[in-house]
Amino acid sequence: MRSRIAILITAAAMVFPVASPAASHALDDGLAQTPPMGWNPWNAFGCDITEDLIRETADAMAEKLQGAGYEYLVLDDCWMAPARGADGNLLPDPIRFSHGIKALADYVHGLGLKIGIYQDAGLLTCQRLPGSYGFYEQDAKTFAAWGIDYLKFDWCFANVDNIPYACSAVGLSIQTCLEVWPKGLGAGFNQATAYAMMRDAIAAAGRPMVFSICSWGSGDPWLWGKNTGHLWRTTPDIEANWESIVGIIDQNADLAPYAGPGGWNDPDMLEVGVGSVTPVEGRAHFSMWAMMAAPLMAGNDLRTMPDETLNILTNTEVIAVDQDPLGEQGVRILDDGDHEVWRKRLADGGRAVVLLNRGAAAAEMSVTAAQLGLGPAASYHVHDLWAGTASGVEGAITVTVEPHGAAMFRVNAA
Ligand code: GAL
Repeated sequence: MRSRIAILITAAAMVFPVASPAASHALDDGLAQTPPMGWNPWNAFGCDITEDLIRETADAMAEKLQGAGYEYLVLDDCWMAPARGADGNLLPDPIRFSHGIKALADYVHGLGLKIGIYQDAGLLTCQRLPGSYGFYEQDAKTFAAWGIDYLKFDWCFANVDNIPYACSAVGLSIQTCLEVWPKGLGAGFNQATAYAMMRDAIAAAGRPMVFSICSWGSGDPWLWGKNTGHLWRTTPDIEANWESIVGIIDQNADLAPYAGPGGWNDPDMLEVGVGSVTPVEGRAHFSMWAMMAAPLMAGNDLRTMPDETLNILTNTEVIAVDQDPLGEQGVRILDDGDHEVWRKRLADGGRAVVLLNRGAAAAEMSVTAAQLGLGPAASYHVHDLWAGTASGVEGAITVTVEPHGAAMFRVNAA
């Protein structure tokens, strides 16, 4: 406990410059030209992570997912020790990551994959481990030295309102807390300025990293995120059930204009093969994340996943829609409550389309070429991305969609 208090006081004593979010450079570093793909342990394992799990997962990812485009293995919260070292450096948990993060990064790189890590803009991470506040440059240098390729940067214990709570979480009285932070984290410290500071710290550390903004949509990151990071969470945490998945779709839907190459709306990581999500729901979830040009971060146990889950995560034609170089986030064009039609324009002039049935009963659904914005043609090539079949149709697709299911097609004029 004492060492945590030492961290707090060090942070308070620092002069902490505030960067301007609008400052200088748009991110034109060539990273994340298509939505990042990878794996993250949070949805299936929470804090229960060890270097053995990560190595085994890296092996499984290389064997099963890498060929489909999955690249970043990203550690989430709880990899770090409860206190920084005497020099202020972050340390890995001495028991669960006893060989250190550099060794793990070397292992992951040896498989041809990239490695990501998690930290937090505030005083503590969401699991109350040391946050980066006061240490942005130092932590960015540590990550660069370890060989980190991707940083997920969270927003717990970062709002001024949370300071008393943060202090009590590490055992300080409110009175002591207010002595330590009489002005909280400082006027002008907000999501836009904090993430801009970490962007600059990463640039100064000299190693390219995909920068994942995780303020859960607070601070409207879609408005400033493109100059700051490569993806920004647009919603609270996803949960492994259908209601959460469709709720997240609704929150992310209207943000389509803000997404594009180099900067993506992030409706959170995949729950395919996790919790109560059925294979039908998993296919719909994966289809919709591809339509929304969302980052595809698998969240299940890759070591033991059944073929049914593997087949969803490695549907290369659905992935191609997500990764389409035009980088458009698809939009909802028809909505009668439970039944929705989504359209995404593709670089080859064609359209991806999803017929999404949110309801509890099977439904016959259809869409016309005109609704998809395709010009008149004698017929259209229609490729069913889940059935794997191709057909020619004259002007409309009609299909029965399972409850909590989706049909997905790629359509081009013949
Ligand atoms: C949340 C974040 C989750 C996960 C968790 C870890 O704030 O949205 O994705 O990272 O923290 O504590």
